[in-house]
Amino acid sequence: MKRKILLIVFISLLTALVLSACGGNVESTLEEESSENMNMNEEESDSMEEGMDHSTMDMDDDAMENGHMSHDEVISLNDSTGENKLKIPSVLENDKEEVVYTVRAQKGETEIFDGTKTKTYGYNGSFLGPVIRFSKGDTVKIRTINELDEETTFHWHGLEVSGEADGGPHNSLKPGEEELIEFEVTQEASTLWFHPHPEGKTSEQVYNGLAGLIYIEDDNSKSLGLPDEYGKNDIPLIFQDKTFDDEKQLNYSAAMNEDGTIGDTSLINGTLNSELTVNKEKVRLRLLNGSNARNYTFKLNTGDSFVQVATDGGFLNEPATLNEITLTPSERAEIVIDFSQLNTEEELALINEEDGSILLPFDVTDQRGEDSSIPEEMNDFSITEEEMKLPVTKKVELFGMMDQVTINGKKFDRERIDFTQEQGVTEIWEIYNKPDEMGGMIHPFHIHGAQFKILSRNGEEPPANERGWKDTISVEPDETVKIAVQFKHKGVYMFHCHILEHEENGMMGQVKVE
Ligand code: C2O
Ligand code: CU
Ligand code: CU
Repeated sequence: MKRKILLIVFISLLTALVLSACGGNVESTLEEESSENMNMNEEESDSMEEGMDHSTMDMDDDAMENGHMSHDEVISLNDSTGENKLKIPSVLENDKEEVVYTVRAQKGETEIFDGTKTKTYGYNGSFLGPVIRFSKGDTVKIRTINELDEETTFHWHGLEVSGEADGGPHNSLKPGEEELIEFEVTQEASTLWFHPHPEGKTSEQVYNGLAGLIYIEDDNSKSLGLPDEYGKNDIPLIFQDKTFDDEKQLNYSAAMNEDGTIGDTSLINGTLNSELTVNKEKVRLRLLNGSNARNYTFKLNTGDSFVQVATDGGFLNEPATLNEITLTPSERAEIVIDFSQLNTEEELALINEEDGSILLPFDVTDQRGEDSSIPEEMNDFSITEEEMKLPVTKKVELFGMMDQVTINGKKFDRERIDFTQEQGVTEIWEIYNKPDEMGGMIHPFHIHGAQFKILSRNGEEPPANERGWKDTISVEPDETVKIAVQFKHKGVYMFHCHILEHEENGMMGQVKVE
């Protein structure tokens, strides 16, 4: 492990040296820096050729041949120094009698770096959003208010609500507008999230900080005995990567990459260099990959195992023991790490196996917590024989890269309905990721307004930790995934790649449920 980190540090230093040599001066401009960081499109690579020495060009050619353009190599994240305490989002209170919340999208300034104010967006605050808690059975009213200078929407990712309440691109609010939405919470306990969805602006608004979590509780989740002390042994973790400019600002258009905007700076719940203090007990981490495009593979630096207890939309039937878990953008997982069983003499940290970076060091106190146990049986999720026998009635082919991405050969058109499906009727969707000459890349495929079941991946049963409710799935190049989808409500729903720049570039379609 240590060796690997050293090697990575060495390689980064080497790369930095070569790149600064090619820049020719120390004060390289922001534009140069960001194009170095990105997978280049033709224009950028043209402009970079000027003033570059030959060895650098060779390196770039190699990088492309090695699949740089297909995201096999992405810039590494910084290692967290652990100098800041992880911020825990506040919990949005509701008015007791009636479940009414107010959620405002607003602009603000946030001190991400000591002594510097970064311009950010947030919900009910300057950066990111609060956790909104619902209980199954609640009738929820949310007053959504747009206090930005641009249009936005309030999308409830993973929530089974009508198309009208879903907050897709059709539900946009102009600056200063507000809307009261109402829905009933009918689905089981899970960790969902919310973010904006205005056409052409989603990726930038999420990047600037619009994202928050939703917790749904039900009788089952309350009786399982899983760690549930918010902020103590039940911790929300929103993982994002950003690029900051010399002024420590988020400059989306400079950082933007058509193939998915990747940053070199890791933020967790908006905290830079974060550390989490835990007791010697079982700790539940609710992981959200809230990045625009980066995939994370979470792992303990010691290689110790942990258990996954929940997928995007609910508990697994039984805990799945894992050494690592990959989440593509917008996927969630709840995992439990038992710190009473780990050797805490060693420095413990959550790392990203994709690039070896240290995401979240743990400071383990000597305090022992309650001896909670993880039940063997947590849910009654099942795939019926009937569902297994249903024929495929919807085919989705994901293809392309950069701004050439399509679904079934088409780009998004808000006037076009791509599929229709009957409310309450299960249909089998087949999602295929068609490779291109460069191999292709993973596309995280998401459907609004429904939690679905994975029937198979390339004809095989999905892994144990995917046998639960999902709203986003990772689809590898040349992979075919069959899913059983049922919508409980009516309306027009989006389905799309959750690499937000792919979504903006048209990798999105609409299903009308009637
Ligand atoms: Cu996270 Cu269209 O959704
Ligand atoms: Cu969604
Ligand atoms: Cu994609």
